[in-house]
Amino acid sequence: MNRIKDIPAQYEAIVFKTKALGFDMPSDLQTGSLLKTLAASKPGSRILELGTGTGLATSWILSGMDPQSRLISVDNNALLVSVAQEQLKDERIEFVCADGYEWIRSYNGAPFDLLFADAMPGKYDLFEETFALLKTGGIYFIDDMLPQPNWPEGHAQKAAAFITMLESRTDLVLTKLNWSTGIIIVTKTSNNKL
Ligand SMILES: C[S@@+](CC[C@H](N)C(=O)[O-])C[C@H]1O[C@@H](n2cnc3c(N)ncnc32)[C@H](O)[C@@H]1O
Repeated sequence: MNRIKDIPAQYEAIVFKTKALGFDMPSDLQTGSLLKTLAASKPGSRILELGTGTGLATSWILSGMDPQSRLISVDNNALLVSVAQEQLKDERIEFVCADGYEWIRSYNGAPFDLLFADAMPGKYDLFEETFALLKTGGIYFIDDMLPQPNWPEGHAQKAAAFITMLESRTDLVLTKLNWSTGIIIVTKTSNNKL
């Protein structure tokens, strides 16, 4: 049951490079597998990933996308993004090496069907602006919501407050999963805030 199969072809090479770089915030297999399943549920979709890292989750998202779907993945670390770009050569993806705060504020393209928020901007910061980039019926996906050994002082309270904020809203429904590092899947139900 817990065995994860269908690992993307590029995944092991990305893991190798990720370890070589000493990158210590990678998304895990369970998160990747769930992202793939969600991406596959939305043919012809527009998908946004905030926090590419070295492209581990990106490889999973891509492997679930149909030929008509498109993915934008944003990260401000050029070295990490270069690993993802080198390993994931696919015309359906646009890598953006930019500050997430600036990118979210300036984006004026079409809204998204699925959004993996895996950086501070888009999750703990600029949540409203980021949630506004989703279509009604779109999915907002976050991991690392269960206590993690690498959480800094004060982060547990921050995570708890974020969950309380989400649960208090009337423009979404959500499910908290004891899966991976703690996943929350949010579906936007209205464009009317709160
Ligand atoms: C948790 S890691 C992402 C892990 C990645 N999703 C994976 O599959 O391994 C968070 C990422 O956010 C990026 N980041 C941090 N601050 C950022 C900012 N202001 N703008 C854009 N990206 C940022 C970091 O460079 C890092 O790659």
